[in-house]
Amino acid sequence: MPSPDTSYVSDPTPGRGALRAARSWLHSDAPSLSLNGPWRFRLSPTARAAEDFAAEGFDDAGWDSIPVPSHWVLQGDGAHGRPIYTNVQFPFPIDPPHVPDENPTGDYRRHVELPAAWSDAERVVLRFDGVESLFRVWVNGEEIGGASGSRLAHEFDVTSAVRPGDNVVAVRVHQWSAASYVEDQDQWWLPGIFRDVTLLARPAGGVEDVWLRAGFDDGQGRIEPEVTAGASAFPVTLRLPELGVEQVWASPADVTPFDVGAVQPWSAEVPRLYDVTVSTAAETVALRVGFRTVEIRGDRFLVNGRRVVFHGMNRHETHPVRGRVFDEEHARADLARMKRFNVNAIRTSHYPPHPRLLDLADELGFWVVLECDLETHGFDAVGWAGNPSDDPAWREAYLDRVRRTVERDKNHPSIVLWSLGNEAGTGSNLAAMSAWVHARDTGRPVHYEGDHTGAYTDVYSRMYASVPEVRQIGTDGSRAPLLNCTPAQGARQRTKPFLLCEYAHAMGNGPGALDQYEALVHEHPRLHGGFVWEWRDHGIATTTADGTPYFAYGGDFGEVVHDGNFVMDGMLLSDDVPTPSLYEFKAVVQPLRLAFDGDELVVTSLRHSADTSDLRFHWRVEHDGALVDAGELDVPVLAPGGSARVPLPPVPVAKDAETWLTVDVALAAATAWADQGHVLATAQLDRSAARPAPAVRPRTDWRPSEGTLTLGIAEFTGGSLTRLAGRPVTGPRLELFRAPTDNDEGASTEVEESDASIAGISNAALWRRDGLDRLTTRRVAVERAADALRTVDRVSAANSGLWVTVETLWSLEGDELELRVETAPSSGWPTVWPRIGIRFELPDGAAPVDGADWFGLGPLESYPDSLRAARTGRFTAGVRELSVAYARPQETGHRSALRQLTLTSAGTGVVRIAALPDARGRRPGFTLARHTPQQIARAAHPYQLPESATSHLIIDAAQHGLGSRACGPDVWPDFALRPESRTIRLRLAAG
Ligand code: GAL
Repeated sequence: MPSPDTSYVSDPTPGRGALRAARSWLHSDAPSLSLNGPWRFRLSPTARAAEDFAAEGFDDAGWDSIPVPSHWVLQGDGAHGRPIYTNVQFPFPIDPPHVPDENPTGDYRRHVELPAAWSDAERVVLRFDGVESLFRVWVNGEEIGGASGSRLAHEFDVTSAVRPGDNVVAVRVHQWSAASYVEDQDQWWLPGIFRDVTLLARPAGGVEDVWLRAGFDDGQGRIEPEVTAGASAFPVTLRLPELGVEQVWASPADVTPFDVGAVQPWSAEVPRLYDVTVSTAAETVALRVGFRTVEIRGDRFLVNGRRVVFHGMNRHETHPVRGRVFDEEHARADLARMKRFNVNAIRTSHYPPHPRLLDLADELGFWVVLECDLETHGFDAVGWAGNPSDDPAWREAYLDRVRRTVERDKNHPSIVLWSLGNEAGTGSNLAAMSAWVHARDTGRPVHYEGDHTGAYTDVYSRMYASVPEVRQIGTDGSRAPLLNCTPAQGARQRTKPFLLCEYAHAMGNGPGALDQYEALVHEHPRLHGGFVWEWRDHGIATTTADGTPYFAYGGDFGEVVHDGNFVMDGMLLSDDVPTPSLYEFKAVVQPLRLAFDGDELVVTSLRHSADTSDLRFHWRVEHDGALVDAGELDVPVLAPGGSARVPLPPVPVAKDAETWLTVDVALAAATAWADQGHVLATAQLDRSAARPAPAVRPRTDWRPSEGTLTLGIAEFTGGSLTRLAGRPVTGPRLELFRAPTDNDEGASTEVEESDASIAGISNAALWRRDGLDRLTTRRVAVERAADALRTVDRVSAANSGLWVTVETLWSLEGDELELRVETAPSSGWPTVWPRIGIRFELPDGAAPVDGADWFGLGPLESYPDSLRAARTGRFTAGVRELSVAYARPQETGHRSALRQLTLTSAGTGVVRIAALPDARGRRPGFTLARHTPQQIARAAHPYQLPESATSHLIIDAAQHGLGSRACGPDVWPDFALRPESRTIRLRLAAG
């Protein structure tokens, strides 16, 4: 048999054969058959495998079985190839529109029994909701057609090929095709039939398509209907029972806009939906309509006349086991989680999600930016030469993509912006897409970040702009040049609403500065918020050779080119665990502003459309974290934007403890996404009486010392601590290193606010260069006085002339043991430091330290530029819970502003530590972990961390901020830790 002609694989033309025009994904009562389930499957290494499999009688008995929907690389334990992760890079030569001969090709076959009743159908349609990347389809040996556009729906007319009873459907899927050049999103390449396959019986006189544009104006609803049906389908009836609406259209000419009277509008906060049916004699289609009007007025983006602020997430469809295969239950839980974390918007980066996701977004309430399946980022590597976005040969492919995007999802009230795609450079094909959308849907503006000059889009959008730059964009009269814009283009952009389609790169530990971005939104109404990059990590569940489970990232499957852990940049870990950054986000964007003013609380609603009648305001007073009183505040119901002052309850102030008042704003009743009592917003007020720290007692009787010494609960040999409260302990030793975060490893040049001298070099590289991870000590002096011990150490790294002097003073102060550590850097340290801390090692023993009980900031980790979710209180956690299992191990676990810490063993206190403020009132933070920073820095995955029962306690006088330099700005200067002298002062006691 001659090998088949595969030239179509390199053809940008999007479809062929009986491919039908795009239409809405409708809920219809017309018969349908799901073709999901097991299919016969064969994988070939090239596109040239014989096409004999498409024949009806082909014997596939020897083939594997594979579930549809699925990705073949995630099936069969590696027998069907492996996933590939790249961000910008193409995993094949840049040779558009060609792809290599090595082109994994999956052939699928299954039988389907067509019910006898289907012989009444006017047409039989075969729908594919998602196939990556190019496929062809045969029915009973007859070739029907083919299509590309992986995350788009494709329907084929198979009427002439099907028959009652048994039918054979055969599908050939190529992993690589011309389409791969325009599907270069930052994600795993996951081939296969990964969304539903459905056979639809289309009745004569059915509803082919329907579009109900439901507007809202001044309390009134209006529907602009569009019905696609043959003349014989009429009369068509629209029913909206809740409003008593029934429209009977005798002919297509009757299908005209109509008012429905008073309605409740739809918004992300109050997602009010009305059930509607559209029927002919042959078919009824059910829709859920939400009345809302999207509008751009000047530089404001409005829904129902009110400005929208996006507190959004970029949402990829990704799951550690299923890949991009949709699971409705999981998606619903995921969206409910977003709501609980005050997320109000989703950008469907970077392709349309499974269509049901939009039903859920309508129902739960999100502002959605629906993005087309388009990205050509890899052309960046060749200076954008040959970029399809400006090549007429690709125009039809681009238009086909945007038509399929808009037509499929046009009925959803949640969608408030169409996005042409992501990182596809710029060019006339994008402009043509925009023109098509503008003509088709006048009710939603067009977004595309790559249109830097604003030539064909309606909103100004950027990614990862720094805080000063965003401020400049928001400021009237600013002449500061905008990215890639002439002054005139910049002026044009400043007339539009602005949003950050991506910001706050949430890779690993971070980002910092969420609160700085949020503050700008309230200062400059042109700024409409943005979308965090991104919602979740894309780890793939796998195991090591010895069966240890872990979440894989780029390189773990032996890819030739890959982008490592750049795919692990979500606020959720791969297994759905929210990272501290998500709590920070929740706190920063909380929908109520709570400010204390004297004896009053000033409450301001930042909501778009909901009043506050669903909320309760709880208060409590704590003394050193212990509850002393609680109650509820009587806050009047606030309209959106409204404000009220309410008196605070009387707060009993303790003499010997800190006094804190906490106000929590909680849901009065359960919602579709949270339980009653779920807290949406929190604020704290410090009412503590001033309590100066005890002065340091001067000593003059120092004399050289040797040998052993006991001071209260501490035992020393040669000036070094050996036992504390009867257990072996070593330390304290100076610790300047932290296991670099992904942001610390970031080498972007965007450091202008901080330090231009490190542009292009990561902080982590500089720390390693300066030997912060390999400090050595030379003891300069050991001295004792009555009830006191003093050591002086000079700490420095191999081949470095820089050092830090560390003076350690132990003394008995009454029945307490005080430790005071003074660190003083030599001059000349050139970079920021990750931390200034002291580390103790608490080895495994009879009663190993395995937990902490503390009064300070918690419950989660916090850093100088990520402190908003942290509150002052008393917290307890096991040593393992104190660390976050970031996909690539890195700095984690720092709790700021410590007052009291009890190290525990099986819940029982073994050592108590009180942290005294330094002369400027600053308090240290602490980290308790099973591993040292150096051990953590050596591991690429959590399973590579050595087994350890030793606990390491680090008390930090200071930590460097987090920033978001993995993809964005470095740490803001205010939160950057410059080498400086610090004092750590602790009081220690047993138990
Ligand atoms: C953006 C891109 C995203 C992602 C992000 C970095 O440039 O649009 O898809 O790659 O950077 O994680």
